[in-house]
Amino acid sequence: MISVIVPTYNERENLEELVSRISKALESYGFEIVIVDDDSPDKTWEKAQELAQNYPVRVIRRTKEKGLSSAVIRGFKEAKGDIFVVMDADLQHPPEVIPRLIEAIESGADIAIGSRYVKGGKVENWYWWRKLISKGAIMIGRVALPKIRNIKDPVSGFFALRREVVENVELNPVGFKILLEILIKGKYSKVVEIPYTFGLRKSGESKLSQKQIFNYLRHLYRLMKWEGEIDRLIKFSIVGMSGIVVNQFFLWLFVEKVFGNGLESYMLANILATELAILNNFTWNDLWTFKDLKNKPLYKRLFSFHLAALSGAFVQWVIFGVLVYLGIHYLIANLIGIGFSFIVRFLVNRHITWG
Ligand code: GDD
Ligand code: MN
Repeated sequence: MISVIVPTYNERENLEELVSRISKALESYGFEIVIVDDDSPDKTWEKAQELAQNYPVRVIRRTKEKGLSSAVIRGFKEAKGDIFVVMDADLQHPPEVIPRLIEAIESGADIAIGSRYVKGGKVENWYWWRKLISKGAIMIGRVALPKIRNIKDPVSGFFALRREVVENVELNPVGFKILLEILIKGKYSKVVEIPYTFGLRKSGESKLSQKQIFNYLRHLYRLMKWEGEIDRLIKFSIVGMSGIVVNQFFLWLFVEKVFGNGLESYMLANILATELAILNNFTWNDLWTFKDLKNKPLYKRLFSFHLAALSGAFVQWVIFGVLVYLGIHYLIANLIGIGFSFIVRFLVNRHITWG
């Protein structure tokens, strides 16, 4: 049995076509359509109740709660099927694709994502800058949350999953990227992406236009925290600070006790002190920050850690140059450069050294 969960808010005009196309597509399955409406002013719930006379539709009219994610979570609670499908009501998600999502689940996937960004998928009628923002936002998510780094469309609103993936899982209803929440907190092992074309809205207008980016970033932050990535970030910066102490100490030691004062001596002492700081940081990050992620052999981790340090230094240098060129004070430019270098080093290490 398939439960198709459809959150709605002012979708009255789309409902009839949606329900009839879903029913046609799922002809050969046992299915129900669970419509979760937030007491829409256009009386979507009323239209849904009307359709329930001729189709296997169930209507949940919520009067106290609001929001896309919480509506979907409510749908999960009410659904009776073993496979859940989540989709929008506005026909941007073509019902004819649902059988492909279900087949993917039947052949072993736990989650099947309707994806705009795998080969064969696309978005209709978006300006290049909209695509850029969408893809940029997804890229930030994939980089911030290594668990989903191989997923091309982790914010899709169109997907199918086995009941067990979300059963007894505490999902946070804040934000509207419910799939992201499921991909981080759900119980699953195999995910596949099925291409589809994200069409045009049939009738009415999008509810998710403003505040999107900011909410999305907040959601990412919460998930990073949940995943322990924020803890890693903090540990990584503490280790980084210990590296500064090590670097200064050995620079002093080499100059004062070994090579003496003078330009050549400084330059050599600087290289040695930097290398010792790198080794110090590597050791602590290996034993502490990323202790659970030693998947690569030691020599590879060491090599890649040096690579990260080098890329960080390069980024710092380039940003410094650009900002100074733009007229920003060199000390401020350096601080900004250091900030970017920190992020680059963390990410290279998180995804490659301890990836
Ligand atoms: N119950 C309820 N409550 N439903 C809502 C609410 C709400 O507060 N807000 C929106 N919906 C319903 C809409 O009625 C529609 O069926 C669906 O959620 C998606 O809303 P749209 O307003 O059409 O969103 P969009 O087209 O901008 O974005 C969609 O597609 C993106 C790409 O797949 C959403 O599914 C996004 O989450 C998704 O990233
Ligand atoms: Mn839409």
